[in-house]
Amino acid sequence: MSDAMPVYTGPERILSGMQPTGGLHIGNYLGALKHWVRLQEGAADCFYCVVDMHAITVAHDPAELPGRVRSAAAAYIAAGVDPDRSAVFAQSAVPAHAELAWIFQCVARLGWLERMTQFKDKAGKDAERASVGLFTYPVLQAADILIYKATHVPVGEDQKQHLELSRDIAARFNRDFGGGEAVLPLPEPVIPPSGAGARIMSLKDGTAKMSKSDPSDNSRINLHDDADTIARKIKKAKTDAEPLPATTAELDARPEARNLVGLYAALTGISAQAVLDEHAGQGFGAFKPALAEIAVQFIAPIAGEYARLIADPAEIDRVLTRGAERARAAADPVIAQVRERVGYWKA
Ligand code: TYM
Repeated sequence: MSDAMPVYTGPERILSGMQPTGGLHIGNYLGALKHWVRLQEGAADCFYCVVDMHAITVAHDPAELPGRVRSAAAAYIAAGVDPDRSAVFAQSAVPAHAELAWIFQCVARLGWLERMTQFKDKAGKDAERASVGLFTYPVLQAADILIYKATHVPVGEDQKQHLELSRDIAARFNRDFGGGEAVLPLPEPVIPPSGAGARIMSLKDGTAKMSKSDPSDNSRINLHDDADTIARKIKKAKTDAEPLPATTAELDARPEARNLVGLYAALTGISAQAVLDEHAGQGFGAFKPALAEIAVQFIAPIAGEYARLIADPAEIDRVLTRGAERARAAADPVIAQVRERVGYWKA
């Protein structure tokens, strides 16, 4: 391809989303939500959706889904997303996501999707029985981003590959349908530096990502956990018998110790080395209560605000309705332009 590819010149825009799978955890906060809040301070328009369409790619209970969407929206706001500044909405309330996803399914190549590691992880051994939607999941994610022509996407490290796919889809769309113009931006992931919350690991296994879908609630610290629960989970967290070392290099072969030090560092905003400078030589009997105290201080205000918000579902619904209106208004001209570019019949 020639290097004279046109450059996108539209305004900066932010989009991100989370699955409404139970409550959110501290990995979701440190990896993404914290940066959603930071980015809304800038001049760019921000769109933060709850991706309920992604949630139905696996078995789900229809009676529970609306409550899960509300719960995720309440967690966004409790963590500091301001619904007066940023559009907070459910993905399914903006049908243009699905419409663009279909067009992108015709732009993306089968080989690109077959390389997606998250599908392999989620589908497990019995991929034949996975829904087709689980396979095309990252195409819908590309549509979530590009239906707003979002230029920046704050996410944790695990979403990096999906973001690369979104860029490939945008580039291919521009090449095939742009008519010499960069109609769509190539969205940039905004990922925290590693060691600053990009990838928080399970409290029970320092080699597995902290995840909402882990059957053990003790594997994660939720944003709605109370002080006793947080202290108990940290006390029970898997560790080794050695005291904390003096340098971060010595944590390399100690995934659980590295994770707890990383969590302390991300919560206090200091480097992992600075944590070790303070705590080297300490055993976990001393370090864990120090970490628990920091985590409780940090989560208590978010948990309190979450409890207040979730007690008033009608108010959350008003926020979601307003957010969907704003999102639809932003998506409408983009889907109209894309329809025209692919040559759809026009009434
Ligand atoms: P989801 O719902 O799994 O996670 C939501 C966000 O939290 C981040 N995250 C983590 N960060 C650090 N450590 C962890 N242990 C951890 N676990 C999760 C994720 O990276 C993510 O940023 N496919 C997406 C949702 C999505 C989306 C989008 C995101 C759908 N459409 C468009 C961005 C843009 C997902 O399943 O995230």
